[in-house]
Amino acid sequence: MPTLEFNGKHHIYTHHLTVPYRPLETDKSLSCNPTSENDNLIIHGDNLHALKALLPRYANRIKCIYIDPPYNTGKEDWEYNDNVKSPLMQTWFKENSPIDNEDLERHDKWLCMMWPRLHLLKELLAEDGTIFISIDDNEMHRLRMLMDEIFSADNFITQFIWNKKNVVQNDAKFASVNHEYIICYRKSDAFQKFNLLPRSEKANQRYKNPDNDPRGPWQSVALQAKSGTQENVYTVTFPNGVTWSPPSGTFPKFPKESLLSLYREGYLYFGKKGKNVPRLKKYLSDVMQGMVSNSILTTDEVGSTQTATETVKSIMGGNIFNSPKAVGLIQRFLLIATGPDDIILDSFAGSGTTAHAVLASNKEDGGNRKFILIECEDYADTITAERVRRVINGVPEVSDDSLREGLGGSFTYCTLGKPIEIEAMLTGKELPSYAALATNLLFTTAGVSIEEDTLDQKNDDGLFHSDNENDYYLIYKPDLAFLRSNEAIL
Ligand SMILES: C[S@@+](CC[C@H](N)C(=O)[O-])C[C@H]1O[C@@H](n2cnc3c(N)ncnc32)[C@H](O)[C@@H]1O
Repeated sequence: MPTLEFNGKHHIYTHHLTVPYRPLETDKSLSCNPTSENDNLIIHGDNLHALKALLPRYANRIKCIYIDPPYNTGKEDWEYNDNVKSPLMQTWFKENSPIDNEDLERHDKWLCMMWPRLHLLKELLAEDGTIFISIDDNEMHRLRMLMDEIFSADNFITQFIWNKKNVVQNDAKFASVNHEYIICYRKSDAFQKFNLLPRSEKANQRYKNPDNDPRGPWQSVALQAKSGTQENVYTVTFPNGVTWSPPSGTFPKFPKESLLSLYREGYLYFGKKGKNVPRLKKYLSDVMQGMVSNSILTTDEVGSTQTATETVKSIMGGNIFNSPKAVGLIQRFLLIATGPDDIILDSFAGSGTTAHAVLASNKEDGGNRKFILIECEDYADTITAERVRRVINGVPEVSDDSLREGLGGSFTYCTLGKPIEIEAMLTGKELPSYAALATNLLFTTAGVSIEEDTLDQKNDDGLFHSDNENDYYLIYKPDLAFLRSNEAIL
């Protein structure tokens, strides 16, 4: 299989394995109605570290990932500064940050940034999970190559096109680019099918009942297909005197006998006067279970960049974020790729549209989907989390009824703790307190959040916390002699 070579690839090839582990630390004051177990999460920090921190608890558990990374247009405000130890890489970062149009290696840097993150995202994804990535023409082709290499070309599902605006930009140099892409991969073939979409009124209206068929509204489709074999071609004369054969270059969809029995059962339509070329009736009742998603997503169906900006503006009271995505766009992916109890991750959270979409979908179908958002900028609290707080609690000024009331829900706000330096622990240089280690392990591995100062080590067995389902033990003392002793060995 052809693969993509880029500067730095050798240095970052296994970088995801060496990223230091930094525990998640909860911040109750910035959380919203936090629950003690399995809450939604908003994490402030670089996603490279945050994804690593999520691994103990969420590896293979995320059903759907949506990410909207920097598109690398050369005009955005992003820097590549992952702490890759290689001296060559260190020099490269220092010399060439920040990344703009003049940086001839901006594509290499973008690929170096994406590579370890995509690896960690893949580890978090469930076997039957899917990942959706928004991108435009700047990196589309390179991202496809990267994804083929990391996720495998066999797991490519589709490339959606979002028709994000309708107004044609007349000052565009060549063409007014009114679309961008969302590529979708699955983790493995354990994922087989998207959910069907509920049928829209517009789609149902295509079904009519001009002949008062008791089987209900129908629409007609041709009896011939473009592919087939010549020996299956025939001419048939129906009992009503109409003769039919497939137009030249096409082939019958049914053998002659089957077609005649469809005639007898009243499934063929010959026009108002009964003498036209026959067509097959397809009944609305047979397709009621739903519609397959189109790969072209229109502004009417899922919203536009303009509606997305207006949504954020109405919630936050001003134009505080450039190019948010439309809530409807992300809800479309949730609809086709998740069930009511699934976990959804967005590691480039921006204005928090994914959390908004998750809460809106839960409100609509009574689901209990959970979200995890990661945002590295300081606005993780003031924009990302603040939008979600407002969406949860209600926005009095908006016209949308459910948003005015509030979509309900909660989240726990987290930051990243200091890297746990295994070496420092092994030499005894830096040993966390019992309470710090116990609360961290409990949260990162079981998703149970308790206050450090309420933790009491109940007995000598190391039992430190019990809930309805489990007892949690930690045998540990921040003392190197103890850790080396037989006492510390189970
Ligand atoms: C294009 S925006 C996402 C917009 C989002 N989809 C929305 O609808 O608001 C990309 C976001 O990813 C964040 N980001 C970029 N690099 C990141 C990193 N390494 N870790 C976490 N967040 C990052 C940026 O700060 C920015 O807010």
